[in-house]
Amino acid sequence: MTRLATSIGSFPLRNPVICASGEPVMTEAGIRAALRAGAAGVIAKSVNEQPAAARQLDKADYAFLDAAGMATAGPAAVSLFNRSGLIQRDCADWFAAIAALDREAAREGAFVAASIVYASTDGAETVASRARRAGLRVFELNVGAPHASEAAAGAIVQETDPDRLEALVRRVRGATEGMQLWVKLTGLSSNLPALSMAAQRGGADAVGMMGRFMGLVPDLETFRPVLGTSAAYGGGWALPIVCRFLALTRRAAAGSLPLIGTNGVRSGGDVARMALCGAGAVEVLSAVMHGGFGAISRIIAELDTFLERRGLAFSDLVGDLADRLEGYGDQLETPGRWRDFVPPETLQSE
Ligand SMILES: Cc1cc2nc3c(=O)[nH]c(=O)nc-3n(C[C@H](O)[C@H](O)[C@H](O)COP(=O)(O)O)c2cc1C
Repeated sequence: MTRLATSIGSFPLRNPVICASGEPVMTEAGIRAALRAGAAGVIAKSVNEQPAAARQLDKADYAFLDAAGMATAGPAAVSLFNRSGLIQRDCADWFAAIAALDREAAREGAFVAASIVYASTDGAETVASRARRAGLRVFELNVGAPHASEAAAGAIVQETDPDRLEALVRRVRGATEGMQLWVKLTGLSSNLPALSMAAQRGGADAVGMMGRFMGLVPDLETFRPVLGTSAAYGGGWALPIVCRFLALTRRAAAGSLPLIGTNGVRSGGDVARMALCGAGAVEVLSAVMHGGFGAISRIIAELDTFLERRGLAFSDLVGDLADRLEGYGDQLETPGRWRDFVPPETLQSE
């Protein structure tokens, strides 16, 4: 399947579909299942140095929502709404386990990465050097977990200031020499191009975008929120928002910064759409929570068919749309076009 081959900078991937960090890959068995399904790699469930973040897992809860944002258990489920927590295993033990899986994966041209949802610069640096000592090749630094505003104080930090982000990434870079350092950015900022450039200045090899959003889902039976609180909200509906930020960031970095898309990929066509906007790879999780690890095989097969039918390689897609993106001012004039989009009464003469 060479038409699917891609890379994040100098790091080659057998295809662009990475299984993102989350509960399905919180065990060795889950990570192995994602790799068996054909994922290019797995970002293992994140750690952080604060016990409060791990304890949050005991209060985690999850609901599937339909397109109208109503809770459903059935096939109409298109969005995942949840509060999550972080892994409760000892960090050194978890990193030793995933490093062993990474060595196995490397023989198949795949990888298993360590990930932190960070709480402090010192903590991120310490955890990063543990990942390096364990022999892991890829470290993902998540600075944008949506739960930051709701979790216990200090347990999770969301970085939206470019200067502070650059300083953080530089410290973590110092601890991850020789490793791939990928920085996963928040979805709760409109400053993603500036944050991406800051991450690059700090030494990141790639940035991932964008984290999920926060929502509040009123239940019309109980008049209380679904899950009892605000929580993270993601779905296929997020993909156009992510695509725009991918394209803007590719333009800001003049193509010099490898991009990873996440938030909203549900099909092979969705991978292609993120690639057109500049993503060299994507991270997928909700599709696995909706449909099991088979969703990864399905997405890869759909992308392969899409490319084969057009006689294209995946690398032909990357950035093709972003590099030709026009602004409002470049568009043809369409006087009166607004009339097609209003009710007839608006156009009646008084
Ligand atoms: C239940 C759940 C747990 C998650 N846990 C983590 C995590 O520990 N670390 C992380 O970086 N991202 C985490 N994420 C974010 C996912 O890795 C992914 O980026 C996000 O869900 C958007 O992609 P998707 O639309 O394919 O789900 C989690 C997402 C969900 C739904």
